[in-house]
Amino acid sequence: MRMYDILDKKRNGNELTDEEISFFVSEYVNGSIPDYQASALLMAICINGMTSRETATLTKAMAESGDMLDLTAFGNNTVDKHSTGGVGDKTTLIVAPIVASLGCSVVKLSGRGLGHTGGTLDKLESIKGMRIDLTPDEFMSVAKQCGLTVCGAGANIAPADKKLYALRDVTATVQSIPLIVSSIMSKKLAGGAKNIVLDVKTGSGAFMKTLDSARELAKGMVEIGALSGKNVSAVITNMDKPLGYCVGNSLEVAEAVALLKNRSCDNDLREICITLASEMVSLSKGITAKEARAKVVETLENGNAFKTFKDWISYQQGDFNVLDDLDEFTKAAYKTELLSPCDGYISSSEASGIGIAAMMLGAGRSSKEDAIDPTAGIIQIKRVGDKVEKGSVIAILQSSTVADHSAAHKKMLESLTFSKEKPSEMPLVYEIIR
Ligand code: URA
Repeated sequence: MRMYDILDKKRNGNELTDEEISFFVSEYVNGSIPDYQASALLMAICINGMTSRETATLTKAMAESGDMLDLTAFGNNTVDKHSTGGVGDKTTLIVAPIVASLGCSVVKLSGRGLGHTGGTLDKLESIKGMRIDLTPDEFMSVAKQCGLTVCGAGANIAPADKKLYALRDVTATVQSIPLIVSSIMSKKLAGGAKNIVLDVKTGSGAFMKTLDSARELAKGMVEIGALSGKNVSAVITNMDKPLGYCVGNSLEVAEAVALLKNRSCDNDLREICITLASEMVSLSKGITAKEARAKVVETLENGNAFKTFKDWISYQQGDFNVLDDLDEFTKAAYKTELLSPCDGYISSSEASGIGIAAMMLGAGRSSKEDAIDPTAGIIQIKRVGDKVEKGSVIAILQSSTVADHSAAHKKMLESLTFSKEKPSEMPLVYEIIR
């Protein structure tokens, strides 16, 4: 088999065979196919697309390019969740203990944040002592004891995706539905869970800017999951504005803890978490979403979800006591107030801009090597739909390493729009595809 012939075939819009796709993945991972040929194939796929069969084969080959977790010891109620990436998205911290407290097993491999989106591992690492580098034996043992573990995907989980994603990033081939489907689903298949819930974000802060493209991605991932014997549900949710009040690692952990403790919290965040958790429980237990929702609300309200959260943090060696005093936990050296430039309402809050402002404060990375300031971030005092007066505080920006917040203030103001009339409400959950 020659890579040249595969390129020629795909460039002409023809369908590749399973053997050709598997050959490409294995030979690229072992270094026999050079980046320039792999780039040419990625571009041909971007332009000509892939059939469902081709995408399924590509996904399977990428998943099998490295270790595949074996979760059969946990039975059929293993459940994973994936978000396509957002700003202020702390849902995993809330949803995972909810479903684990209901007897589902959550063994989740997560990633770090890059660019304007946050990553669960960075949020967890803001808790003193929390280990996210567990060995496979360790994370299986934590999952057996408390039904839940979240740690970093080791280098050998879907290595084909790591190599291909880096290449896509520099060859303008990220925005291709079959390539995004295979990238996300290869990691989910390697993660081993029988049930998978995908939070597909759409809007200004998301990968998928339009509902149509989010729907296409969601359908593609559900189809590939089903072909691989998984139960998959995709929830399409709004990412036109950040989720919840806070953006930034320790601030988001504190917001998640407050919600799990049933303290006052953002309604949108609570509703998205309940929807995602209900889908996870429904798939894992084979019950209706309505039945699952009743269980989810009960475990949240009776404190069982919070108890599981505490156990989980302790089993991964996080110092739970630091979360008793959330003001101390989120305390930062520098705090500044962002004031409203006018009277009226906040009519929009572009999520990616708010994410970039948080990154400028030290909450995120512009390159993989950047260090994170766990205390850096933004508390939105006023959000979309809220009334504001000129000079009133609309956000608090904080950090412990970056002393000058002026660039972040500017970025935040550029990301907000104001109107005289109260803006109409946007849908929170657009649809659920199973
Ligand atoms: N997230 C991924 O993991 N892969 C993509 O291709 C896009 C988003």
